[in-house]
Amino acid sequence: MNTFDEYSLKSMKLKNKIVMPPMCMYSANNLGIANDFHFTHYTTRALGGVGFIIMEATGISENGRISDSDLGIWDDSHIDGLKKIVDAVKAYGSKIAIQINHAGRKYEGKSGKIVAPSAIGFNENSKLPIELSKDEIKEIILAFKTAAIRANKAGFDALEVHGAHGYLIHQFLSPLSNLREDEYGKTLENRTRFLKEILVSIKEVWPADKPLILRVSATDYVEGGIDIKEMVKIINIIKPYVDIVDVSSGGLVPAKINIFPGYQIKLAEEIKGQCKLPVITVGLITEVNMVEEILSNNRADLVALGRELLRNPFWVLNCAKEKKGSITLPKQYERAFPME
Ligand SMILES: Cc1cc2nc3c(=O)[nH]c(=O)nc-3n(C[C@H](O)[C@H](O)[C@H](O)COP(=O)(O)O)c2cc1C
Repeated sequence: MNTFDEYSLKSMKLKNKIVMPPMCMYSANNLGIANDFHFTHYTTRALGGVGFIIMEATGISENGRISDSDLGIWDDSHIDGLKKIVDAVKAYGSKIAIQINHAGRKYEGKSGKIVAPSAIGFNENSKLPIELSKDEIKEIILAFKTAAIRANKAGFDALEVHGAHGYLIHQFLSPLSNLREDEYGKTLENRTRFLKEILVSIKEVWPADKPLILRVSATDYVEGGIDIKEMVKIINIIKPYVDIVDVSSGGLVPAKINIFPGYQIKLAEEIKGQCKLPVITVGLITEVNMVEEILSNNRADLVALGRELLRNPFWVLNCAKEKKGSITLPKQYERAFPME
């Protein structure tokens, strides 16, 4: 089985190819500090054998969160709580990244102003965001950079920049939400500039041997928005700064999405082929045979299971037993998973 084989990316060596994708738990207090829930939540998946855990969208500033209950990484006081989780997850043999995010116009809390590349709301019911000045753009880029420094201090094995789901970076990338006339708008190169500057500044502080992941929405699912062809061009611009692409879709505008098991695999496959970068695929993947098909046909390098791992934290151990995959069981649980 390919699923339970090791996988290396830079200095990070994964024991298998199953990923827990970032999933907001909206369980922090207003200060954004990780608590017992987060510790139990992530360490349970590590104990369950997940090779690679990507911690939920974590705000690089107070108004960069999605809600006021998100985790934060805008202050040094966040490092300890995160480090406790990182240390425990690693002790159970998994690797762990953190997804850093600015929500832009999708911020729904009360701790600051709502900002975006242009003053366009997500839908008619959302509050109108304030258009960012160039100075404010520079401040946000700096906040991504200092978040990366803190993530490294907390001991994360990898860092994921959230460029998907209609949050600030995606708002800059898409012509539907970015109507700027300056060097951050209009052309594809200009719309990619904000992301590129973030990646460049992170690279100045993030250790060269640790992977940098970019999550993208490969399509906006609407006319005039980003489609897979445009996303391939965007990724080719920022390719020198990224080690693996975590391929998702949608979230920029309300759009009808045809969802079915594996609905995003084709997008990941296209990016892998066209950009010659490793990819993570995700989206209604719940069966180990499906994971095996994706990996063995080289359609993606790693496979993420979101809601399935919320339902079943021991998915990896159960599948390894069923398929006789090579796995190291937590010794306390050996009697529950006899492997002939
Ligand atoms: C409760 C929940 C929270 C999520 N939060 C995030 C997030 O913080 N960042 C992100 O990039 N995606 C987030 N997602 C999307 C997941 O990472 C994943 O792409 C999506 O659930 C599809 O995979 P699945 O069908 O295996 O669940 C979230 C999904 C769920 C269900």
